[in-house]
Amino acid sequence: MGNSVAVVGLQWGDEGKARVIDFLTETSDFVVRFQGGSNAGHTVVANGKKHVFHLIPSGILHDNVKCMIGPGVVLDVWSFKGEIENLKSTVPNIESRIKVSAGCHLVMPYHKTLDKIYENLKGDAKLGTTGRGIGPCYSDRALRHGIKVGSLLNLAILRERLETILPIQNELLTKLGDEKAVDLDELMKEMEEIANWITPFIGDVPKTINDGLDKDKSVLFEGAQSVMLDIDYGTYPFVTSSNSSLTGLFAGCGVNPKRVNEAWGVTKAYCTRVGEGPFPTELFGQEGEDLRTAGHEYGATTGRKRRCGWLDIPALKYAIESSSINVLALTKLDVLSGYETIKICIDYDGDNYRVFHNNPDNVDKIKPVYLEMPGWTENIEDIRDFDKLPQAAQNFILKVEELTGLPIKLVTIGASREQSILL
Ligand code: IMP
Repeated sequence: MGNSVAVVGLQWGDEGKARVIDFLTETSDFVVRFQGGSNAGHTVVANGKKHVFHLIPSGILHDNVKCMIGPGVVLDVWSFKGEIENLKSTVPNIESRIKVSAGCHLVMPYHKTLDKIYENLKGDAKLGTTGRGIGPCYSDRALRHGIKVGSLLNLAILRERLETILPIQNELLTKLGDEKAVDLDELMKEMEEIANWITPFIGDVPKTINDGLDKDKSVLFEGAQSVMLDIDYGTYPFVTSSNSSLTGLFAGCGVNPKRVNEAWGVTKAYCTRVGEGPFPTELFGQEGEDLRTAGHEYGATTGRKRRCGWLDIPALKYAIESSSINVLALTKLDVLSGYETIKICIDYDGDNYRVFHNNPDNVDKIKPVYLEMPGWTENIEDIRDFDKLPQAAQNFILKVEELTGLPIKLVTIGASREQSILL
């Protein structure tokens, strides 16, 4: 059986998963996205050029890798087209390297409008979504109002389906949001255009992956968002609408859990969160601003300022346990250079972390208990060996291993591919 590795985020997204994926892709035949949609913003810097992927799997920059989009992904086909067009000059054979499952649900233009309408209606209780239509699309899937990519292969049936669904969407758009109703003929024109464009990409993704594994292919499963944003395991309701922990992989691309040999979890050396919701170790004022500036913490999809704080071990341990993670990657260690003292939250005072995660309303009562470690002043961006890191940086890595009970196999110390330390 081929080797397969999954990579998921362990915090609130933006952990630098794409860096880790790009690194692991060197030994992979397939890279597979299994959930989420264009809410993701996966940044890879290769050969001095920065690429941000929203739907295209991060393995695309490696020539011999096939990229798959599994049926658990919600596909904004227009955004996908834009990404493909942008990459054509860098990846000339891109069309032959990407397969999209017919089972993906389509993010329709009205989903994006509804995303904004729901956020507005919630007022102060808004989630701070990315506005990419993710929630409304996954809701329609559950309501059986969704449209799959496969529907684009038969426009007569698609039209029939829209005849049923569109009046419902229009009720919502006009009554909840004071928006104009969507015209069926106009929408069908757009759908026809996009159907012709996407047809060559459509394929049977679960079968391709499983056949590949039978033939000893190596498969890399690329999570988007993270455990703490997972609809079931995250800080509900401040989460995304998919299973963005490891659990989403099996439903999202039809692979038996036993076929995944290694589950990598990615954590920054500190914490960030974009959007609303609990964040016990958040730093405010100048302290938060300093960390944001040092880490360039602005959203890759929306450009929003990310909230920043110290590494939260209780939350990390929860994420590790609930996704059966067995290997860690620690990213952005270089951002902590220059701190005289580095804090790590090792416990919550007077509360249990399971209570926090099952009841986010409790977060105000949680007080982090910090371990303080000496920092380092040296610039570590050009170091490639663990032994050459300042002793304080080595101690930090070893402490995270000790506190989580897992080996750290990769540490990143800069945005470029080469800025990695293998342990
Ligand atoms: P949605 O997925 O756009 O519905 O947003 C729901 C929540 O998840 C919001 O707090 C977003 O900021 C957050 N979120 C969604 N995708 C990402 C991501 O890729 N990185 C970080 N946060 C995300």
